[in-house]
Amino acid sequence: MGLFIAFEGPEGSGKTTQLRRLYRRLRRAGVPVVRTREPGGTRLGERLRALLKRADQNPAPEAELFLFLAARAQLVSTVIRPALAAGQVVLCDRYSPSTLAYQAYGRGLPLDQVADADRLATGGLWPDLVVLLDLPAEAGLARRGRAGADRFEAEELEFHRRVRAGYLELARSDPERWLVLDAQVPPGVLARQVWAHVRDLLVRRGLFPAKPVNLGRLLHRGNH
Ligand code: TYD
Repeated sequence: MGLFIAFEGPEGSGKTTQLRRLYRRLRRAGVPVVRTREPGGTRLGERLRALLKRADQNPAPEAELFLFLAARAQLVSTVIRPALAAGQVVLCDRYSPSTLAYQAYGRGLPLDQVADADRLATGGLWPDLVVLLDLPAEAGLARRGRAGADRFEAEELEFHRRVRAGYLELARSDPERWLVLDAQVPPGVLARQVWAHVRDLLVRRGLFPAKPVNLGRLLHRGNH
């Protein structure tokens, strides 16, 4: 079994940048890693993503929930589970915690029912680690700017405050699996904090250092 890490945070938290940095760090260390994103990551998921982000469509909260879950179900069964079964590290830009934060805390759908529906979609697959890059809603939205805002970015400030508070509550309820970091420190510092934590986790799981390449064989091959 590999290791499943989700990056989470409100708009403008810099999680995509941090995910990319961790991805490169793992690649350099020779750890087998795949990265993906939500909604998206599959053909079906990318089509649902386009529908979900369009500013001119306003699905009912329940319809929105099931579109996110449809994208997730497809991603879990065709990308995430196979990668984990092959022993890879999977980095996912948003996952189930986004649904709990946005659709339950943000939109106001009942948390327990959202969690049940999400478990049905994922078959109960929860990340080994959720990295939450936390910052005040105002700060995140300011970073992102309003130009070309999608349907979520265009939501009122109160919505984004509920999302942030929701994330923090979820993190408090399961501190073992959540790493909460201040997204407002410089990106290089943040990247080192993420790496230090992930490295420890990989060591504990026996996934780091990656198995050394057989140099003898490589050299031998190079001679011929
Ligand atoms: P995206 O461009 O990926 O935003 P970000 O760069 O902030 O990750 O757009 C995804 C949007 O969809 C984002 O505003 C959060 C929202 N979302 C949900 O509401 N529920 C979910 O389950 C997921 C995965 C995303």
